[in-house]
Amino acid sequence: MTRVRLNWQIKTLLPVALVLLNGLLLFVLVTLTLQDPLRNRVLAVAVAGAVAICAVLFMVLAVMIHRPVLELQNKIARVRSGDLFVNVDFADRNDEIGDLGRHFNEMVQQLRESREEIERLHRTQMSRAEHLATLGEMAAGLAHEIRNPLAGIAGVMEIVGRDLPPNSPAIGVLGEVRHEVVHINKIVSELLEIARPKPPVYRLADLMAVAEHAALFARDQASARHVILEVIKSDSVPKLEFDSGQIHQVLLNLLLNAVQACPEEGFVRVDFSTDEKTVSVTVADTGSGIPPEVLPNIFRPFFTTKGNGTGLGLSLARRIMEDHGGRIEVTSEQGEGSKFTLILPKNRPTE
Ligand SMILES: Nc1ncnc2c1ncn2[C@@H]1O[C@H](COP(=O)(O)OP(=O)(O)OP(=O)(O)O)[C@@H](O)[C@H]1O
Ligand SMILES: [Mg+2]
Repeated sequence: MTRVRLNWQIKTLLPVALVLLNGLLLFVLVTLTLQDPLRNRVLAVAVAGAVAICAVLFMVLAVMIHRPVLELQNKIARVRSGDLFVNVDFADRNDEIGDLGRHFNEMVQQLRESREEIERLHRTQMSRAEHLATLGEMAAGLAHEIRNPLAGIAGVMEIVGRDLPPNSPAIGVLGEVRHEVVHINKIVSELLEIARPKPPVYRLADLMAVAEHAALFARDQASARHVILEVIKSDSVPKLEFDSGQIHQVLLNLLLNAVQACPEEGFVRVDFSTDEKTVSVTVADTGSGIPPEVLPNIFRPFFTTKGNGTGLGLSLARRIMEDHGGRIEVTSEQGEGSKFTLILPKNRPTE
């Protein structure tokens, strides 16, 4: 059954109109038909009638408006105190007050659902953080356990290699094994650094000299691929305090990534810039570039697109830069090349 919907304007105007109509009728009646004494009595009755109608109107308004408003205030107070399991009872009314009640109930329900979602996400994050912490501990323990036997294997290889005749075919195999041992050692060392990060050891150092040194290490790979590696020095770069070992490691990874991304005869360019608060070094290459769908993943631990990569280089780089109070930025155009910028603060962060 469809209920008649009366707007508030009508509900309030209707009794007022009745009062006015009543007055008008009485006035016409009194002035046209009655004599003086009777007229006074009729007027008194009319006034009493008007007062009664106003009183009824007041009661109706009290029941129809004041009660729901009080209930709403009460329920809002409960919501503010954190109770999201409340509903107003006047939501089934077929007028604006009912609309207000329905909207209030919907809003509380949405709040309740959002709070449940936040609580669920919080629980997931907490358990993920706990997992990561446990995983970090495990990785650190495992790395220690692997390193010792690895050093033993490298030592045995050395001895076996020395005892082999120079034309033995096993020499090649030994070289392969040695290469793999170095690779495993690199993975384990990086894993250990991620699981047990060391705080930077600050010393006043020359960023350009550190970059030159890293470039020296990367030149072998660069010339094997006919990639030109240039370090463009600048007079305006001041010495600053940083952990030169860690920044060297970051720059070497950026340079090797850049060289490895280049096809034959590419270019890798390192340059420096400075502003009031920071010193930056940029490694730009003319390599393959990074596809937009890959870009968000490159700082994730173990993300690699290379057959022999560990995928730890950039995640370590980001952590080292953050430990220094700096950051690492990347821009890349697929097919055009990539640009990685390390930004270091001139003043080391206060612990
Ligand atoms: N200059 C670059 N050009 C194109 N892709 C890059 C560049 N630098 C990084 N990448 C992408 O980011 C990925 C992650 O780099 P990251 O240095 O963390 O690990 P990796 O180089 O793969 O392994 P590792 O550093 O252990 O040798 C790379 O596998 C590559 O896909
Ligand atoms: Mg790398």
